[in-house]
Amino acid sequence: MRLIAGNWKMNGLQAEGLALARAVADAIRGAPPLGAEALICPPATLLASVGAAIAGTGLALGGQDCSPEAKGAFTGDVSAAMLADLGCRYVIVGHSERRQFRGETDAAVAKKAAAAQAAGLHAIVCVGERGDERARGAAQTIVLGQMAGSLPADIDPTRLVVAYEPVWAIGSGRTPTPAEIAEIHGALRHWLGERFGSIGSGIRLLYGGSVTPANAAAILAVPAVDGSLVGGASLKASDFIGIIRAAA
Ligand code: PGA
Repeated sequence: MRLIAGNWKMNGLQAEGLALARAVADAIRGAPPLGAEALICPPATLLASVGAAIAGTGLALGGQDCSPEAKGAFTGDVSAAMLADLGCRYVIVGHSERRQFRGETDAAVAKKAAAAQAAGLHAIVCVGERGDERARGAAQTIVLGQMAGSLPADIDPTRLVVAYEPVWAIGSGRTPTPAEIAEIHGALRHWLGERFGSIGSGIRLLYGGSVTPANAAAILAVPAVDGSLVGGASLKASDFIGIIRAAA
């Protein structure tokens, strides 16, 4: 089933976060079977309250990041088990904002993906090239390199989701052309097939970066696109629901 994931990033206090989550959950509850899985990833401070509000609605809950460690003296970290304990099914790891602003390396991302799966979560591993890397024709090489480096050796491919998010498309209103998305997704699909055999074809490949209700249908129609990771448009219930409907 396709996956539409909303990444709220560092946005939302209790009241507005709850209102947003309820609006999305209500729309999903009232709709005929969607044919797409819908997921929201609020900030960690909202997971408990939002999780309680959406329990049983069919809207899934996920974290935006997790510690690479299981437990212990890691001040400020949130472990994958803590996320699972709050009802999360998924966690995003290796988002470009963490790679760019928090210095996370491929190896760190791989450790987080392993920690996520050890806690029973599905890991959404993000990869994507910067604008200058695309400009010099290196997009595919960069993305496949990140992919290879960001998966732990013992990753369980049945609990892996990959998100292709070109850094230059995030929050910019610019998106790659369908042909450009098809090229990268095709390369990722091929790579996953080589690594995991036939199971690789079942790993969902999300596109992320300036997805809106207006462009979602065209992006989701691209071969090897199995859903999307949505930032800004997931903060407005009607926009996020529009994208979910485009996937159904
Ligand atoms: P955007 O963000 O939809 O606001 O471009 C996507 C993301 O960072 O996951």
